[in-house]
Amino acid sequence: MKNFYGRRFSRNHKNKILDLNSACKYFLSEDNIKEKILEFRKIYTSVNLEIGFGNGDNIINLAANNPNAGFIGCDPFWSGNVIVSKKISLMSLNNILISNLEFSKCFEYLNSLKYENIFILFPDPWPKRKHAKRRLVNSEFYKMIKIIIQNEGKVFLKSDYTDYISDMVSIFLSDGEFLMARTFLEKQNIFPFKNTKYAIKSVENFNFPHLIVFKYIPKKI
Ligand SMILES: C[S@@+](CC[C@H](N)C(=O)[O-])C[C@H]1O[C@@H](n2cnc3c(N)ncnc32)[C@H](O)[C@@H]1O
Repeated sequence: MKNFYGRRFSRNHKNKILDLNSACKYFLSEDNIKEKILEFRKIYTSVNLEIGFGNGDNIINLAANNPNAGFIGCDPFWSGNVIVSKKISLMSLNNILISNLEFSKCFEYLNSLKYENIFILFPDPWPKRKHAKRRLVNSEFYKMIKIIIQNEGKVFLKSDYTDYISDMVSIFLSDGEFLMARTFLEKQNIFPFKNTKYAIKSVENFNFPHLIVFKYIPKKI
């Protein structure tokens, strides 16, 4: 089944030789992802995940400001992986791993760990009704998140599409295992995140994004 409908290359990158060295130490390919994730776990007691990191503004900022925590990001947008890879090298960050595998593929390996915080910032909205089934956050996605989030871990969701936001809220509140810890319409500084490309665009268009934070409190059996 197809799980990714977005672009893998920016227009500028399409015909160029891509300079992301898949052997570099922070890049996860299908050949090394399993071992690298397990090694990472030995170093960091707190591991965090960003799904769809785009140009990496948030994950890079979090990794730079929290050197004792580990950060893993996945996004099939190859040009974004190249940009993020350059930033990691320039800033000499050791606590970050990235992959161009899309989430449901990456999940097969990511599920060997539990994550303290999971970030999903501006998932593609697919606003047309007939495209709604392409949305990343759906009931299947929710089941996977429940497998990888640690107890009392948090999921940070951000979007400026009210229709998508209400769908995401219904999904995360569907079985009483998440509490909605915080929700607000953001006006300016978006704490604790650095504004991402899409956050900046949305504020410029006076389309203020909503941030929703869910906390995982699984029911006792
Ligand atoms: C609208 S962009 C937002 C990028 C970034 N989070 C930001 O706020 O600027 C959505 C991103 O989600 C990524 N994406 C879409 N489907 C995905 C999937 N199945 N797994 C991981 N990332 C995905 C896209 O490639 C794209 O980079």
